[in-house]
Amino acid sequence: MPEPGPFSRRDFVATTGGAAIASMTGGLPGAARAADARKRFAMVGTGHRGTSMWGAELLKRHPDAIEFVGLCDINPLRAKAAGKLIGVSCPTFTDVDQMLDATKAEILMVTTVDAEHHKFIIKGLERGLKVITEKPMVTDETQCQAVLDAEKRTGNKVIVAFNYRYSPKHRKMKELLAEGAIGKVTSVDFSWYLDVQHGADYFRRWHRLREKGGTLFVHKATHHFDLINWWLDADPVTVYASGDLKKYGARGPFRHTNCRPCPHKANCSFHFDVTKDARLTALYSDCESFDGYQRDGCVFKEDINIFDTMSANIRYSNDVSMAYSVNAFMPFEGHRVAFNGENGRLEMRDYERQPWPVESKDTVIELTRNFGKRELISVTPEAGGHGGGDPALQRVIFGTTEPPSHLRLPGSRAGALSCLTGIAARKSVAEKRPIQIADLIKL
Ligand SMILES: NC(=O)c1ccc[n+]([C@@H]2O[C@H](COP(=O)([O-])OP(=O)(O)OC[C@H]3O[C@@H](n4cnc5c(N)ncnc54)[C@H](O)[C@@H]3O)[C@@H](O)[C@H]2O)c1
Repeated sequence: MPEPGPFSRRDFVATTGGAAIASMTGGLPGAARAADARKRFAMVGTGHRGTSMWGAELLKRHPDAIEFVGLCDINPLRAKAAGKLIGVSCPTFTDVDQMLDATKAEILMVTTVDAEHHKFIIKGLERGLKVITEKPMVTDETQCQAVLDAEKRTGNKVIVAFNYRYSPKHRKMKELLAEGAIGKVTSVDFSWYLDVQHGADYFRRWHRLREKGGTLFVHKATHHFDLINWWLDADPVTVYASGDLKKYGARGPFRHTNCRPCPHKANCSFHFDVTKDARLTALYSDCESFDGYQRDGCVFKEDINIFDTMSANIRYSNDVSMAYSVNAFMPFEGHRVAFNGENGRLEMRDYERQPWPVESKDTVIELTRNFGKRELISVTPEAGGHGGGDPALQRVIFGTTEPPSHLRLPGSRAGALSCLTGIAARKSVAEKRPIQIADLIKL
């Protein structure tokens, strides 16, 4: 029998921030799992993300690691539809306590709308479960403090599923910065472009309401702020932001409740026919009778209260400053991030979708040294969602080998600091002044 590796003895709880999931799945590096080593896996929030990455894809990739024992959603029709889409026949629930009592779950996966995450994270921690939450960990500072306090009180830890860290292109940037490719970093330019398809989709769904997703400064930018904190190995200190709604919502030329019955559909470039997508129909339109939630909501609805045009200046604990922006009605999707350093510049322009051909799916990183030459570093994406970030994150959580230290799993601290950057940005827009992260909560 192989010797247990260091990883296998660790307690999940003791390795936060950290990596311990082989212990979660009974894994020993290099050893086959026992037939009964699957962990009892329950999910709350059985929508798109729950049924895809954390549902069918997870089961396909790691069938020996988990067994679905319960699916919970406030919409019982969606929970049932989710079981079919994932391909499991476990019971479904509308009350998470009933699910956890009935199923004796060992892992709780939180994939609800963002503003509900904290309730289930805290419940899972209090019950001593292994808790994994989708990003953002929370949407305001009160929820954030409650999660951190629950961890202290219970001694248990949450994993925050920052898949973007795990895509090959982002890992490569981390490695180049860590090895000092441009010397000490002095400033960062970071622009994220959401296009008229993906960007517009946020304005059709629950994300359009700040009380559900905290605005895109939290819902979306938590990914970007986490990448920056990780790349720089620093904490955000001060945030000064601006945010506007310039294209969607009340700015639109006309509006209706949703696209299917809309009298303007022939003239609307944002018209979206949900009935053409069998998966979205099964998950949402077929479940509307219970909660009235429309997946094809009008992007010009007047209740939209988030921004589509955002920028922020952020200062970090290592004296780096960042100019950051997100725009949600661009003709192309992707991002550009550039690190200026004492000895050069490291830049990545990532193309996800654009109305012109790009030569290759590879991302090209440009490393230009002062008084030197430019080096082009090509990174090939891995198969799977988010450029391979999704399967790579799942391998770290459910696989049997220990990742290098920089790829250890993000915990509540990373979850908090990335959300707090967005929460501070939102507050800065409202109060028209710079916000200190330290004034929001006690870390
Ligand atoms: N990491 C990524 O790249 C990524 C990608 C997509 C979504 N996400 C995250 O995944 C989560 C889910 O997003 P989605 O796109 O699947 O949304 P969704 O609308 O498809 O699913 C959310 C589900 O939560 C349910 N829900 C809401 N409140 C609930 C409650 N109190 N109790 C139980 N169920 C509740 C809804 O009914 C819905 O079925 C979000 O937090 C989102 O930020 C992450």
